[in-house]
Amino acid sequence: MIATEPYKPKQFNLSNLNGISDRTVEMHFKLYEGYVKETNNISEKIAEFLKDGKVDQEEMPVYSELKRRLGFEFNGMILHEYYFGNLKRGGGGDPDRNSSLFKAAESSFGSYDIWKADFVGVGKMRGVGWAMCYEQPETGRLSNHWIGEHQIGEVAGYNPVLVMDVWEHAFILDYKPAERPKYIEAFFSNVDWQAVEDRLKHVPRGKATVSR
Ligand SMILES: [Fe+2]
Repeated sequence: MIATEPYKPKQFNLSNLNGISDRTVEMHFKLYEGYVKETNNISEKIAEFLKDGKVDQEEMPVYSELKRRLGFEFNGMILHEYYFGNLKRGGGGDPDRNSSLFKAAESSFGSYDIWKADFVGVGKMRGVGWAMCYEQPETGRLSNHWIGEHQIGEVAGYNPVLVMDVWEHAFILDYKPAERPKYIEAFFSNVDWQAVEDRLKHVPRGKATVSR
């Protein structure tokens, strides 16, 4: 049945990153696979409840808890795919000054450096979560946001373009908990800016190729 088709972990080749060890990456892949597995487990349990075509009143407490947990596991799965997907060996530096990302950062924040300072600032926030750069798809405007755990603070309808995991598991084998800024620096030295560019959805007026 299509509705219960399990999610499959995606594969990423991220060995020999700069400042993020293979040990960290391997451990992180395993954690990610755990989110995929739990997403499937919970989805299966929810499907059981739905077999008779309704959620009965007495099923509601367990069903509700599963749905809440699904938000955590599902977003844990998806955010890790964005995160691994915006890293690559030999990445880093700053994005090309002529790239849409660079220009969007300038028009949204005044300069790329201010955009970056804001994104890094989000990454340094205390607590476990994610630093997110989103694109408002209709206007192309960028904004940076904090996501607590995996599911608190997502911006509805916005497009994630740069995603940084700042849970301690993302760096604890390589850096001390208080050394998160060093990890953030390492993260930036591995960013796949082309992947970020490819995520941008906004097409400036006049550049649209579809005619009506
Ligand atoms: Fe993670």
